[in-house]
Amino acid sequence: MMSGQASDVTTESGDVISHNDVPDELMSVVTSLTSPRRYVPQWYVYDTRGSELCEELIQKSKTYKVWQHEYSILQTHADDIASKVSSPAVLVDLGSGASSKTRLVIEAMRQRHGRLTFVPVDMAKEFIENCGRQLETDYPGLTVEPFGGMYMDGVQNVAAREENRLLLWLGNSFSNVSIHHQVKMLQEIRAQLSEGDRLVIGVDMDADREALSQAYGDQWAPIWRDNLISRLNKDFDGNMDVEKFDFSFELVENPPDGDTPSYVALSLSSSGRQRVHLRTLGLDIDFDDGEKIYFYEGPNTSCKFNLRQLRRLAESSGFAVDAYWTNAEENYCVICLAPADVSHTSV
Ligand SMILES: C[S@@+](CC[C@H](N)C(=O)[O-])C[C@H]1O[C@@H](n2cnc3c(N)ncnc32)[C@H](O)[C@@H]1O
Repeated sequence: MMSGQASDVTTESGDVISHNDVPDELMSVVTSLTSPRRYVPQWYVYDTRGSELCEELIQKSKTYKVWQHEYSILQTHADDIASKVSSPAVLVDLGSGASSKTRLVIEAMRQRHGRLTFVPVDMAKEFIENCGRQLETDYPGLTVEPFGGMYMDGVQNVAAREENRLLLWLGNSFSNVSIHHQVKMLQEIRAQLSEGDRLVIGVDMDADREALSQAYGDQWAPIWRDNLISRLNKDFDGNMDVEKFDFSFELVENPPDGDTPSYVALSLSSSGRQRVHLRTLGLDIDFDDGEKIYFYEGPNTSCKFNLRQLRRLAESSGFAVDAYWTNAEENYCVICLAPADVSHTSV
């Protein structure tokens, strides 16, 4: 499900691809692939297979530690988080994926608030529906209402609910939003929230170059290269060759006293000049040697914030910092934001 009406796309060579010929949700993929700076929307990496591979990697990796860091914070503070809204409450999980860490919050919410409705929001519709059925089996009495769609559509979907809303945005996923859109996106979410609602975001603070180059190395190629190319070939009857694209990592370091966080940029780069044909679109895409496909429309695939930057981001977006919790190494933070004009204390 996408916001608004998809429009036709005119490619660099002047061909027009009509939205009548392409399902709405794939139209944004066509737009991004044919733009001068080629990219795919980040959600596109996560079809059911991509989501399964990702969940396996983030739980088992010895070098990508986001899952473990966030899990350790939630183990200690899930009840603190649940206490931030009063009953009755609805729990919304933006970019929920498998909701594996969210289970800790679900348990704390059930203990504190009794009956609970859980709304996972994710573009990987089939995957979250399967995970939702498993959650209902594991937690009798839990109502799961999966919303297969984009983040903001998911927030709007719960805007009219009477319960207090606790929105989670875990797994460092917020930091994948383009640095140019982060404030606007938080402002849009803020506009949908009321006094008793809270937004809880998990963000990576590890800016160590060596640790990051290991964390974002070749272990991701089966997801961000092999599965992505296989999905593109399947969706558009394409002939892209996995062997002709290299997975690459770049760290852009920004001064810690500035407002822009350091960030990681991931991409596929073409090994050699090549032409790719997407048959269902009747489209050829030419790649120069080394030309890249990025994984988001913005420069960042993932940001590495510090607390000062997070606070500035919250304040610029109409939120106050209600509470935050870090792990023992202080390289991961779960931050709770309250609509600013109703928050009495900012920690
Ligand atoms: C890094 S995973 C995080 C999964 C889970 N929250 C966790 O912490 O383990 C990001 C998730 O966000 C989803 N996603 C990415 N962009 C999205 C968008 N614009 N709207 C909705 N879901 C999106 C992906 O499908 C994926 O499941």
